[in-house]
Parts: sequence; structure tokens; C-alpha cells
Amino acid sequence: VVQLQTLKYRSFDLPASLSPTDVQVEVHASALNFKDLMLALGMLDNPMGFDQQTLKYRENSVNLGLEFSGIVKNVGTAASKRFNIGDQVFGFANHCFASQVITHEHFLVKKPLHLSHTDAVSLPIVFATVYAGLIVKAQLKPGETVLIHSAAGGIGQAAIQLCQHVGARIICTVGSREKREFLEKTYGCTQFANSHSTKEWHADVLKLTDGQGVDVVLNSLKGDAIQAGLQCLKIGGRFIEIGKVDILNHSQLDMNFLA
Ligand SMILES: NC(=O)c1ccc[n+]([C@@H]2O[C@H](COP(=O)([O-])OP(=O)(O)OC[C@H]3O[C@@H](n4cnc5c(N)ncnc54)[C@H](OP(=O)(O)O)[C@@H]3O)[C@@H](O)[C@H]2O)c1
Repeated sequence: VVQLQTLKYRSFDLPASLSPTDVQVEVHASALNFKDLMLALGMLDNPMGFDQQTLKYRENSVNLGLEFSGIVKNVGTAASKRFNIGDQVFGFANHCFASQVITHEHFLVKKPLHLSHTDAVSLPIVFATVYAGLIVKAQLKPGETVLIHSAAGGIGQAAIQLCQHVGARIICTVGSREKREFLEKTYGCTQFANSHSTKEWHADVLKLTDGQGVDVVLNSLKGDAIQAGLQCLKIGGRFIEIGKVDILNHSQLDMNFLA
């Protein structure tokens, strides 16, 4: 198991030349994601880094830091059609807690100058995840109702903004009164349930929808919450699973809800 006290910075050499589609960026801000915490605490398998022969993690194997904002320092020949040295950019890369990253040109965009590096770095993972879940997979439409779990977290706040952009109705679950007040004040959310009690939010969601259920569930809760979320869906509803725990644990689903 990886332990937090074993984490340390290491130096590494940058390659002498870049691949044509690569961009080298000096990192000015990187974000700490839920996945970084899970990896650092050994809660997620790290299949690329685990050596089945020695049953040990390889050196430098844990890829911490998934997103960055910074300034372009070098560009590959093909990437130079889109990016110049000195451009302010943000996006995805490996090992983003490093001072320099090298990433494919398709994994970054130019940063609007009015956004600070710290604001920009809070966007890529959460917005890409909810866009993929709610727009690409669920094909969310105006007027549909979405249940957003743990809505005060990074994913939740991105999902709220996307749902508001689409014109969908939102029901949020949160774990405290402070989080509820934050969402009321910041985004004008009005419908809430308690994310820490499956029984409570399940009953509240059905009550708030007159027993009809919701069109889309954006789920990151684990255990019995998955079954309860499926039972909150309208006929034809979509369940978007973005949690990792039950997938990695090969958890079973009771198929009775399909009856
Ligand atoms: N599949 C993907 O590509 C993808 C990408 C990004 C994130 N995710 C998943 O989405 C979930 C939320 O991510 P996030 O970036 O929004 O995280 P975050 O900003 O840290 O928020 C996490 C929220 O989850 C709740 N929570 C439940 N158990 C927790 C625990 N043991 N420790 C801390 N918080 C806990 C808390 O809300 P309440 O107490 O209010 O319930 C908290 O506000 C995670 O499960 C993450 O793995 C998936």
C-alpha cells in the first residue's frame, strides 16, 4: 500500500527533442484531484506501476497530478501550427506536480488571459468528466431533471453549471448544511437531499419529483447508493456512474429494479 509519507519529489531529465505532436509546458499551477488522493492513499489500483514479478510498485510509478496550467516552453513541429513558445495554456498531462510537463497538443488549449492559472487548472478534469457524462453519454435535454450527488464537490459544481447551461432541473445531494447554503448562494440551487443517508435522499428525490423519479443520475456514491439511484430513475432514465470504488470491487447489482 502506498503511504503519504513515502511520497517525494524526484528529478528527471527532459527528452532532448519533442515528438512532432508534443508540447512542453512550464507548470504554473496544478490541481489536486480526488483520484490523486485515492492513488496516494493506495485506494486505487495502479496497474501500470505494479510489478507482478516483485509484487512492488516500480519507482516513479504513481502518476500524481492530472491537470495543469502554465506557459509553453517548447513545441513539436506539428504542434507549432497551434501553439507558440510563450502561450498561456491549460489541460491534461501526466505528473503535473512537476515543474515541466510534456503532453500531446490535443490535451491542451490556450488559456483566456482573464483567467488566472489557479482558476484555469480547476477546470479540465471536472468539466470534461461531466461533459462526457451528461452531454455525450446521457444526452441531457432542456427541462429534464438531474440528480447530482455530493454536489458541492468539484464534479458537483461543474455538473450544476452544465445543467444550468442546458436548462435542466437540478436536485442536489450534500452532506452538510454549510454545503447546502453554499450551493443556494453560489448557484441558486433550491432542491436538496442528504448525501450521507441513502434512505433519506431516496425518499426525498421521489417526493420532489411526485414519485416520478429523475431523468439522469450523476453518481459518485458507493454501495447501496447505486441501487437506490437506479430506483430513482424514470423509465428511459440514464444512470451515469463516475465513481471508481464499486467498479474496481466488481460490485454486484440486484436486477430486480428492471422488473
Ligand atoms: N470517472 C471520472 O473520470 C471521474 C473524474 C473526476 C472525479 N470522479 C469521481 O467523482 C467523485 C467526486 O470527485 P470530486 O472531484 O468532485 O471530489 P471533491 O471535490 O473532493 O468532492 C468530493 C465530495 O464527495 C463527498 N465525499 C464522499 N465520501 C468522501 C470521502 N471519503 N472523502 C471526501 N469526500 C467525500 C463529499 O460530499 P458530501 O459530504 O457533501 O457528500 C465531497 O464534497 C469521486 O468519487 C471521483 O473519483 C470521477
